[in-house]
Amino acid sequence: MTAKSAKAGKRADEPLAGRREGTASKAGRKAFKGFGPEGYRIRMMEPGEARRLLAIARRADATLIALGKTEIADAPKPSVGDFVRFLVDHEVFVAEKKRSGEAVGFAAAHATSELYWLSELSVEPDHGRRGIGSALVSAVLERARWFRHSGVGLTTYTDVPVGASFYRRLGFDVLPDADCPPRLLQRKLAETPGGSRVTDRCVMTREV
Ligand SMILES: CC(C)(COP(=O)(O)OP(=O)(O)OC[C@H]1O[C@@H](n2cnc3c(N)ncnc32)[C@H](O)[C@@H]1OP(=O)(O)O)[C@@H](O)C(=O)NCCC(=O)NCCS
Repeated sequence: MTAKSAKAGKRADEPLAGRREGTASKAGRKAFKGFGPEGYRIRMMEPGEARRLLAIARRADATLIALGKTEIADAPKPSVGDFVRFLVDHEVFVAEKKRSGEAVGFAAAHATSELYWLSELSVEPDHGRRGIGSALVSAVLERARWFRHSGVGLTTYTDVPVGASFYRRLGFDVLPDADCPPRLLQRKLAETPGGSRVTDRCVMTREV
């Protein structure tokens, strides 16, 4: 999942300054109360967080690189402007440390014609394996239910433990290429990071 499919033509401004860490609005905190693992909460993104989230995405790449996806180290990285355009096209769920308000992970999802689409999921490696990634996916599933989507879709790697097997544990199933409509195959191609093989990627879906 990458930001490279961000559409051009929208303003590339940082979604504006004004939020300091630890000042998430009460309404934003309430929506996903109880979703985060111990010590963390899930909320929606607030203004002024784009650079922080981009830094998380870049550091999360280290998890994939350590698991053998070394090509990611050389793949083109989105600029801040590209990343902001990507965020503007999505609903962005943030995991933060309760104590400090520091953002440590995020998920970016948006509505498509039939599925709610999870375009990106990243967790700081230092905060990995504590249930934050699963909690962010739960928030995405919940949001999809609220808006009466039939399901959630995504593309991921087939051959790393943070790919298909991670999502399988969360109730997602691989949709074989033969059953994918052309637009989903195109999405898979668009979301394949530069240098990775599209044959190592799959579409996964889960009903909600
Ligand atoms: C995928 C990702 C979001 C998971 O975040 P997380 O907060 O560690 O997720 P959880 O704690 O909910 O789940 C952890 C499970 O994921 C897998 N996992 C996570 N990190 C792993 C690692 N470094 N090595 C092996 N398995 C790992 C394991 O199955 C683990 O379960 P376990 O700890 O019981 O063995 C995070 O690893 C990440 O940002 N990866 C880089 C980007 C990415 O891979 N995005 C999705 C695929 S395209």
